[in-house]
Amino acid sequence: MEDTAVTFPLRIQEVSYQYEEEAQNAVDHVSMEIAKGSFVAVLGHNGSGKSTLAKLMNALFLPTEGKVLVCGMDTATEEEVWNVRRHAGMVFQNPDNQIVANMVREDVAFGLENLGVPQVDMPSRIEEALRCVQMTDFAQSAPHMLSGGQKQRVAIAGVLAMQPDVMIMDESTAMLDPSGRKEVLNSVRKLNREQQMTVVWITHFMEEAAVADRVIVLDKGKTAMDGTPQEVFARVDEIKALGLDVPPMAELSVKLRNAGLELPEGILNVSDMVKELKKVLCPSK
Ligand SMILES: Nc1ncnc2c1ncn2[C@@H]1O[C@H](COP(=O)(O)OP(=O)(O)OP(=O)(O)O)[C@@H](O)[C@H]1O
Ligand SMILES: [Mg+2]
Repeated sequence: MEDTAVTFPLRIQEVSYQYEEEAQNAVDHVSMEIAKGSFVAVLGHNGSGKSTLAKLMNALFLPTEGKVLVCGMDTATEEEVWNVRRHAGMVFQNPDNQIVANMVREDVAFGLENLGVPQVDMPSRIEEALRCVQMTDFAQSAPHMLSGGQKQRVAIAGVLAMQPDVMIMDESTAMLDPSGRKEVLNSVRKLNREQQMTVVWITHFMEEAAVADRVIVLDKGKTAMDGTPQEVFARVDEIKALGLDVPPMAELSVKLRNAGLELPEGILNVSDMVKELKKVLCPSK
C-alpha cells in the first residue's frame, strides 16, 4: 500500500492564515501536495504570502483554517512541534541571523544538541552535513571570516545535520552575490538529486525557478499558477500581470513563435534557444 505521508512529505490542505488585526488572509485557502524528492519553486510578488506559507510549513505558524501535514504529522498537534521542525527544516534569508557559534563545526553541532542527538553520533553527522555543502575544509573556521555564500552553506549544513525530509528555503540566496547564489543553488539541487531531499525554494529570481521541477506562483495569498517551469513561463502575459518577470529566453521564444517561427514551447535558457533556432534556421546541419 502506498503511504501518502512518505510519497508526499508535505501536504497543505485548504490552509488560510490571518495576521491579527489584518482584514485579509495572508494565505488564503491554499492546497498543495509536495512530492518526495521534488524541487518546488514558489514565486510571487512582494506580500503575496510566500514567507507566511513557509512558516506554516514547519509549525512556526499554525493555520487559522485548514491543515498542514509534515510527514503525516499535523503541525497543530502541540506534542509534535519539535518533530515537525526536525522533519521540515527552514533556512532563512540572512545567514548572519542563523549562525550562532564562533566556529563552523560548533554551529552545525548547535542544532543537534538542541535535538538531543547523542554525543557519539554528532561528529559523523556534522562531517556529513559539511561535506554535502562542500564546507569540510572550513570546519574549524570562524563564520564571520566566510563569504556570504559560504555562510549560507553553513546555515544549510546546520539544517541538514538534523536530516530533515523537507528543506524550506525562504529567499535564502537573496542577500548573496551572483556567484554565492549559484553556489547555494547548486549545493541544494545536488542534495535534492542525490539524496532525494524534498526542497521548497522560495525565490524572486526567475532563473532559479527555471531549474525547478515544479513552479507555484502565489498572488494575494492564493495559488495563481502551478506547473512545470515550461508550462508556467509560457504564460508570459499572466506572469507579467502578477508583477513578475519572465526568464528572457522564455519571453523571446513566445515572441518568435508569435512571429511565425516554429519553435517548441518550453525554451527557458540560452543553450536551448540556440539548439532550437539552429533546427529551424539551418535544418540541414
Ligand atoms: N507580522 C505581520 N503582521 C501583519 N501582517 C503581516 C505580517 N507579516 C506579513 N504580513 C502581511 O501578510 C501578507 C503576506 O506577507 P508575506 O511576508 O508572507 O509575503 P511575501 O510573499 O513573503 O513577501 P516578500 O516578497 O516581501 O518577502 C502581506 O500583506 C504582509 O503585509
Ligand atoms: Mg517573504
